[in-house]
Amino acid sequence: MWVSMRFTGVIEIIFNKMLTDDIKKEIENLIKYLNSDYLKRGTKDPKEAAHINSYVFRESGIILEMETGSKVRIDEATLRVKNILTTSLGSKYKIGVRRVVLHKPTIILDNRISISLKIPLIKSIVNDGEHSIIELIELDENDLKKPLFLRLLRLIEDKEQRAKWGGKSEHWILIKKSDRKIMKAYVEDPNDVLERIGWMKRMSIGQWLYTPPLTHMLNALKRLFIDEVIKPLGFEEATFPKMYPLEVGLKTGHLKGVINSMIFASLPRSYDISEFEELIDLMYVLNEVPPEELQKYLRTPSYFLCFAQCEPFYWFFENEILDDNSLPVKWYDYSGPSYRWESGGIHGIERVIEFHRIEVVWLGKPDDVIKIRNNLLERYEYFMDKVLDIEWRMAWVTPWFYEQSGTFQELKENIIEVNRPGTIDFEAWLPYRGEREDNKNWIEMGNISIHGTKFTEAFRIKHNRGETLWTGCSGFGSERWFIVLLAQKGFNIDNWPKKYIEYVKTTPFPKSLNTVTYPKTKDNRELLAKVIDLFKW
Ligand code: SER
Ligand code: ZN
Repeated sequence: MWVSMRFTGVIEIIFNKMLTDDIKKEIENLIKYLNSDYLKRGTKDPKEAAHINSYVFRESGIILEMETGSKVRIDEATLRVKNILTTSLGSKYKIGVRRVVLHKPTIILDNRISISLKIPLIKSIVNDGEHSIIELIELDENDLKKPLFLRLLRLIEDKEQRAKWGGKSEHWILIKKSDRKIMKAYVEDPNDVLERIGWMKRMSIGQWLYTPPLTHMLNALKRLFIDEVIKPLGFEEATFPKMYPLEVGLKTGHLKGVINSMIFASLPRSYDISEFEELIDLMYVLNEVPPEELQKYLRTPSYFLCFAQCEPFYWFFENEILDDNSLPVKWYDYSGPSYRWESGGIHGIERVIEFHRIEVVWLGKPDDVIKIRNNLLERYEYFMDKVLDIEWRMAWVTPWFYEQSGTFQELKENIIEVNRPGTIDFEAWLPYRGEREDNKNWIEMGNISIHGTKFTEAFRIKHNRGETLWTGCSGFGSERWFIVLLAQKGFNIDNWPKKYIEYVKTTPFPKSLNTVTYPKTKDNRELLAKVIDLFKW
């Protein structure tokens, strides 16, 4: 934050009549009143208020030089000047204000900003060594009524914060780790094995079809997680949509934060099939779909595909008022996939474009939200240690947007205060990648967050007695947990956690597909035969 922030600007007010000497005299009195009273309202510190430094009359207008602090900002001060002139002169002199223009609106920040800002609203940014001077384009009354300054200042603050964060989206601090459990590591890449034996087939980049045996295994793991972690804590299943209107992403902040990883959807331009005639004819003849032709028949994107999976939860409670009876709300959803565009590093079902997740969400008063998070953490730990018996660790990963909310305290002797907004990641070692000592051989398979008021504010979710409401969410990435299990235990089910085997065995194990041409090579068929053998019981 800035220690001080000043605003300057030149207000031009144009009246619908020439100014007589009487009117001018009256305006001079009004300016005195503005400077001594009306422009000072809203703050005790006159420096934080607004002041008209000088003015000159024109034939039918007046030009005022204004300087303000941050409590009565230049936009607000300009509107106050206009209002006083309109109400005080209007009835007495039958004169009205035709136009208000704020020339050279300028923000003077007490320290230099290092970020660049390229939006049409900004005319120039000058750093004079001590200050950053941001000049905006001319603003009219309509512009002044919008919270442009507020949003611009927030943007500058966010960008500065992100720049300080060093381009990283988060910081990583180890909180806890399991014992070493793997003595003799299985070194094959399970993604590779699953593909070779034909349990899954890649449809397009980062997108797979899971055949029944793999689906069976994934479902057993999901059911186990739900029974061991989610249900004992009283969460109830909901069904969330998987394609969201853009406004939702604007409010959650995803569009501003991770737009480069989001996938968008467009509606057709028309519902009338005859309007597609040319395109259809073209596909007949070319036997292909030229994407640039197709684009002509589509509207601009109006949705983004499910990204964080908790977006509909905040949307649902938008503008709702909750009372103690309905709180806390504890739901989970696993009704469909999430999408994340990854430009590199896509690998097997570990890092994909389309993935499946159990998303756990909760809403309540801060103490309850923290308690729920802590209960979940406990269950996660139990799940990793006692149910799956894997080698894991937990890290406090603080996204930059939590840090700016003023809640961040410097780390003291590596003790982290976790009962506050922030995110904890669950990670597991993937032995096939290499040594456990190297961080790049670990994978994040889940996370758990407290958001504070980030979403309750954005979606105006209220409590009937005005108490603060917070939210939390946690994602269980099904494919990743499964890969962790395979990577640490191998394919020999004798080494697998008993409880999981129980879940796998509750229904008959599906047949692996074995056709004339699938799986592809002799090697792969032999590998499949071995796996099928392991899965006989
Ligand atoms: N919704 C959260 C996320 O996107 C948890 O899954 O990280
Ligand atoms: Zn979430």
